[in-house]
Amino acid sequence: MRSPKDFFAPLALGAPAPVREIPVTPSRMIHFFDPGNEKMAAKVPDIAKKVDVLLGNLEDAVRADRKEAARAGLVAIAKANDFGKTQLWTRVNSLDSPWVLDDLITLVTEIGDKLDVIMVPKVEGAQDIHYVDRLLAQLEARAGLTKPLLVHAILETASGVANVEEIAGASPRMQGISLGPADLAASRRMKTTRVGGGHPGYLVRTDPTGDDLNEGRTTYQQDLWHYTVARMVDACAMHGILPYYGPFGDIRDVVACEDQFRNAFLLGCVGAWSLHPVQIDIAKKVFSPSPSDVAWARRVIAEMGDGTGAVMIDGKMQDDASVKQCRVVAELADALAA
Ligand code: GLV
Ligand code: MG
Repeated sequence: MRSPKDFFAPLALGAPAPVREIPVTPSRMIHFFDPGNEKMAAKVPDIAKKVDVLLGNLEDAVRADRKEAARAGLVAIAKANDFGKTQLWTRVNSLDSPWVLDDLITLVTEIGDKLDVIMVPKVEGAQDIHYVDRLLAQLEARAGLTKPLLVHAILETASGVANVEEIAGASPRMQGISLGPADLAASRRMKTTRVGGGHPGYLVRTDPTGDDLNEGRTTYQQDLWHYTVARMVDACAMHGILPYYGPFGDIRDVVACEDQFRNAFLLGCVGAWSLHPVQIDIAKKVFSPSPSDVAWARRVIAEMGDGTGAVMIDGKMQDDASVKQCRVVAELADALAA
């Protein structure tokens, strides 16, 4: 089992790469932009100041006849800008597409020193990560790169979900996994037409309050993504990599977006995608622990001393396990403040 503190294996070709830790730098929002869209690209330097991760998207949402323009646009943007602490990621085309080979060759060769993470869509199993891993090792060695690129998989096929544990542990390059609810819904033949979020038809109904089956009943909408997010979080935690919620497509519905992101945060995700500037602030708010939660966590840690035994704080029992939970919250707050 690996943890984020583990180190990289040497590259397959050329001199061994220097060891490097998986970055645990904040990645509360992975902000998507189309590098071939000039209007959007012009806003990138300003947006970069507001986000943890900026992602140049080459895959879905970029038309087939704009793939080359998007790739070239990303190269130009990366060469022209220094984004400081903001990470630069890309989402390449899927491994069954005619574009991905050129995506990888061009990006690693031209801007491999500027990119932090390559997001790989529609990952079906460990074999897809092994393929990308070997290709990256060859391209990095040829380009003389000393910083290995990390890989992020999108969980968006039924086969990917079935193999999520092996995907998470497939390479020391694995940085994290995002849920891809739109493709996953199609792959599973779910009967939804939305990009992420809930559905009013997916609900439970309370029992009737009296004899009349139609009286006094309430419905509660359920989270369509609970099972997959929970499974993804376990796979990521087991292999020491980071889980993310993916896209929330109804940009106007900021309330449901916040709820969906918060469900993911509470289950263990560290961030989500932002598809529009309005979602940047939602993700920042949701994926940063609240000041009251942090204060409570620090109080429990302080009162638990060496972290063993049990104490009562405001009528609530705390012990070795609850202090571990509090450390998760306090460590996240420290990492975000650093
Ligand atoms: C994202 O790529 C999705 O399919 O939801
Ligand atoms: Mg997708």
